[in-house]
Amino acid sequence: MSISPTEQGSVYHNPPVAVVVATEDVHLVQEAEQLIKKLGDPVPDPEYIIHFGPRGVDIRSATTKNKNGHRVDFATIDRRTGAGNLSRKQVFPKSIGAPSTTVIDATAGFGEDAAMLALIGYTVVAIEKSPILSVLLRDGLRRAKQNKELWTALGGRLVLIEGNSLASLPTVPHVDVVYLDPMFPPKRKKSALPQGSIQILQSIVGYDPPDKTNILFEQAMQTATKRVVVKRPNHAPFFSDNPVAVHKGKLVRYEVYKPNT
Ligand SMILES: C[S@@+](CC[C@H](N)C(=O)[O-])C[C@H]1O[C@@H](n2cnc3c(N)ncnc32)[C@H](O)[C@@H]1O
Repeated sequence: MSISPTEQGSVYHNPPVAVVVATEDVHLVQEAEQLIKKLGDPVPDPEYIIHFGPRGVDIRSATTKNKNGHRVDFATIDRRTGAGNLSRKQVFPKSIGAPSTTVIDATAGFGEDAAMLALIGYTVVAIEKSPILSVLLRDGLRRAKQNKELWTALGGRLVLIEGNSLASLPTVPHVDVVYLDPMFPPKRKKSALPQGSIQILQSIVGYDPPDKTNILFEQAMQTATKRVVVKRPNHAPFFSDNPVAVHKGKLVRYEVYKPNT
């Protein structure tokens, strides 16, 4: 299917999204065409629009007039070191371990955690199965390349892969750490991610079923040499028995498991 690079190019799909192309950027038009192929049959009442425009790719509500879509924007990550967000003393990097570590983030989502780790100094391969999120991630990385300061800070340490980690993990060479942040149903409204991001994730990818997450965890335990780290909301039960360490934040905790390798 071909689409014209105009605002009227609107096609509907399942999951509940429409794709709108409002740019003539050849790369983005190609990305849009590939996404349309992957999404398959149109859906009649989309909840969200994947908007390819002059500012890049965003996901926005199809039902409200709010044109402020949600983009992957690594430039918005608070990059204060010292006692700030990127301090190695924060619970997240503490759970991952030494900074020279190589990490597979097997549940990339909007890439915030993966980018944080790369900014701190870890070498990160982030895998995301949703083609919609993958388009947003690639666009975020493309825009990061145009921001000299941010690109220098990332230092080429963030690689994105679109694919299912269940298929990818058994094929990759061993890494120090595999990091998992599966979708878990919220107890209340509060969550570690901003509400908008959570709502989008719920709509676009839903919750990760425990049987699939359990297999992913087992594969992670075969792939990592040093640690498997699982992020859980504080209200959730522990993912597995016998974590070797638990690093607790305000809303979430990071459970550390010793792999089988
Ligand atoms: C809670 S979100 C992760 C949020 C992420 N940590 C961040 O900072 O934005 C979980 C993501 O994992 C992805 N996911 C779940 N199972 C996966 C798998 N087997 N392979 C790749 N991605 C997966 C989902 O599509 C979803 O985008």
